[in-house]
Amino acid sequence: MDKLARIFQERFGEVGTSTYFAPGRINLIGEHTDYNGGYVFPAAITLGTYAVARKREDQQIRLYSENFPELGIISFDLKDLDYRKADNWTNYPKGVLRYLKEAGHSITSGFDVAFYGNIPNGAGLSSSASIELLTGVMLEDLYQLSLERLDLVKIGKKVENEFIGVNSGIMDQFAIGMGQKDHALLLDTNTLDYEVVPAAFGAYVIAIMNTNKRRELADSKYNERRAECEEALARLQTKLSIDSLGALGEETFFANTDLIGDDTLIKRAKHAVTENQRTLKAKAALTAGDLETFGQLLNDSHTSLRDDYEVTGIELDTLAAAAQAHPAVLGARMTGAGFGGCGIALVKASEWDDFQADVLAAYEDKIGYAADIYQASIDDGARKL
Ligand code: GLA
Repeated sequence: MDKLARIFQERFGEVGTSTYFAPGRINLIGEHTDYNGGYVFPAAITLGTYAVARKREDQQIRLYSENFPELGIISFDLKDLDYRKADNWTNYPKGVLRYLKEAGHSITSGFDVAFYGNIPNGAGLSSSASIELLTGVMLEDLYQLSLERLDLVKIGKKVENEFIGVNSGIMDQFAIGMGQKDHALLLDTNTLDYEVVPAAFGAYVIAIMNTNKRRELADSKYNERRAECEEALARLQTKLSIDSLGALGEETFFANTDLIGDDTLIKRAKHAVTENQRTLKAKAALTAGDLETFGQLLNDSHTSLRDDYEVTGIELDTLAAAAQAHPAVLGARMTGAGFGGCGIALVKASEWDDFQADVLAAYEDKIGYAADIYQASIDDGARKL
């Protein structure tokens, strides 16, 4: 943070007045359910994005990221908040600013910000939602805006959907906006009701396993999966009165797959329906301290994402399989959108070193380059420091 304060001063020639932080997130279970009206079970982590900021007297917005020093300072005017490809990563803060203003919040002068994030790039730990919520809490504080946290969460999602063009659900922004230290959030994405659940893993810890394979195709495939689920839902709705796949129990689903009548669409919907039930079971198991069952559900989730939803790929499958086969592990799965990025595993803390060495070796042996593995710490949501 001292370093970021120095960087701010070097770049902008003045001292920054305030510092903010927004975490990244992992999702314990409940994957690709948040745009299907289902449950998710994410948590905010200690990795995240920092910002040092200062208000200006004029109308200029000037943004610098220590993660992209080659791009230098990117600037635009407060009155010109259109998406521009050339503005690169600054479209995220720009989108937040635009939608806050459109919602009637008074932001009448410009500002300078230096950003730095330690979420690995393209790792599927939601660096973009982290920047969105970070910008939100920063503007809320700098301009003394009157906002509910949920407003910022929804604005972050709107930026993703309408400004950037990724049809994502609300999980990432919700986890990053509402996260609580040492707790996971069981969120019903249909109602936005949520429960704060102790992330109590006893003798076990959560590992984050980064494939170091970037999710380049994520956006197009992501929107494709979403469209497939919508089509499956529409076909089910010809007979069933349901609003979302999340409203379906497994029995009703399996009794009605003939309404869908297409093998691929049936598999996609099957994932959405069964994953939703697994998420509820996993929450119950965790609450009851039954980590064996919780771990088994993580494994089942990965299998469903691999075989039915088809969003894993060789890198995530190799990491998950190596972790699942390890005696120190109760369960492992991909986390986030998939197609690369990260997996998680529930690992016995006393056998951490063995686990890490064995899984890293198995991965490099098969894939030809190294993965990264570290312990996750679960932290609070976006905030002023
Ligand atoms: C991405 C999206 C989320 C969610 C996950 C998959 O992280 O941003 O909304 O859909 O993928 O569970």
